[in-house]
Amino acid sequence: MPQHKILLDESEMPTRWYNLVADLPSPPPPPLHPGTHSPVGPEAFAPLFPMSLIEQEVTTERYVDIPEAVLDVYKLWRPSPLYRAHNLEKALGTPARIYYKYEGVSPAGSHKPNTAVPQAYYNAQAGVKKLTTETGAGQWGTALAFACALFDLQCEVWQVGASYDQKPYRRMMIEAFGAVVHRSPSMLTEAGRGILADRPDHPGSLGIAISEAVEVAAPDPEVRYALGSVLNHVLLHQTVIGEEALLQLAKVGDTPDVIIGCAGGGSNLAGLAFPFLREKLAGRNDATIRAVEPAACPSLTRGVYAYDFGDTAGLTPLMKMHTLGHDFVPDPIHAGGLRYHGMSPLISHVYELGLMEAISVPQTESFAAGLQFARTEGILPAPEPTHALAACIREALACKESGEEKVILTALCGHGHFDLAAYDAYLSGRMSDEEVSADRFREALATVPVM
Ligand SMILES: Cc1ncc(COP(=O)(O)O)c(C=O)c1O
Repeated sequence: MPQHKILLDESEMPTRWYNLVADLPSPPPPPLHPGTHSPVGPEAFAPLFPMSLIEQEVTTERYVDIPEAVLDVYKLWRPSPLYRAHNLEKALGTPARIYYKYEGVSPAGSHKPNTAVPQAYYNAQAGVKKLTTETGAGQWGTALAFACALFDLQCEVWQVGASYDQKPYRRMMIEAFGAVVHRSPSMLTEAGRGILADRPDHPGSLGIAISEAVEVAAPDPEVRYALGSVLNHVLLHQTVIGEEALLQLAKVGDTPDVIIGCAGGGSNLAGLAFPFLREKLAGRNDATIRAVEPAACPSLTRGVYAYDFGDTAGLTPLMKMHTLGHDFVPDPIHAGGLRYHGMSPLISHVYELGLMEAISVPQTESFAAGLQFARTEGILPAPEPTHALAACIREALACKESGEEKVILTALCGHGHFDLAAYDAYLSGRMSDEEVSADRFREALATVPVM
């Protein structure tokens, strides 16, 4: 009988996060002050994050110990299973071996609690009373609300308008964990009011929701902000995924040839891929790492590599990243977690160093892949990782053509149990792939600050 699940014991769970910066040939460019254009120090982030997280943001240490209290919470669902997709392989008729690391077993249903828990923990340690945040898919809002409940923090979430409208059950789940949810853009902030004045039915974007959450947190010493992706400390926390997957693949004697992950801000991809990249840089594997973005929001494949704001209102320091321009409002595709105008500066740097590839995939191909996966492997994926699955299927079919027995590893970073309306839209023929016009890209790119 084939083995489907490769499991680790709780005692085998990694006790350190891995920081890729320590092993790169050059460090990523620093964030800059928007006025002076000189590198910002830790104090620029102090109104938003506690010092322990700022230290993790800038550390060059190779490993950071995971606090006991965080390990204890992780053990509610970690180590997460690694699956061999035997059924999908058979359906595709491919000689490739496909593995997926399933993060949907977490309380929120995705990889997001891997960083929500330590972020809530460090904020609680620093005496913070409330965290504010954005959420696109609703997964991050759920994760932070769960983590805040555990560490006795209040939580206020700006949910991107399109997601708030499409996914009422995500809002309810966030509220069930005790957080307050607002539709973004909202009338509660200057950033939101300005946008609504121009367009009252605005679908929102992650950039706008970030502006709102930052605007509320920054002036209040008892309130801090938590980001679900993009920044170095978030990617650091997610490396538990890849560290576990390394141990799991070693148990079955396989090494990946291709590692594929969807990329919104880049955290699930980095979490899976960076420990394997450490091994590659040390000559222990030769895996190709492939980021998959939605065709409607392709920051790596169609954006520029430039200093830009992390939010729409321009409240954050400037970060060197692949960006479509901080004013870019992606079409309201169903993969709400992938509707971000930029890409993590660390992923962007890795891409510039030639250590990662990127492709974009339209949403209908992604949902078709998600359904093929559900009908063979039994898990209904979140819309975001359906993009990675579409890319896995492309790779597996190429292996069928060439006869290559490649080992493909992907991050199945969340389930789609709250995304049934999106599947319904696909199944009833109401989902389409709108081409983004060259003019729209050009206009948004014009908002990237000239340095
Ligand atoms: C399930 C899921 N996958 C992927 C993403 C994209 O984020 P990232 O690229 O940081 O993993 C999100 C973001 O909300 C998400 O909820």
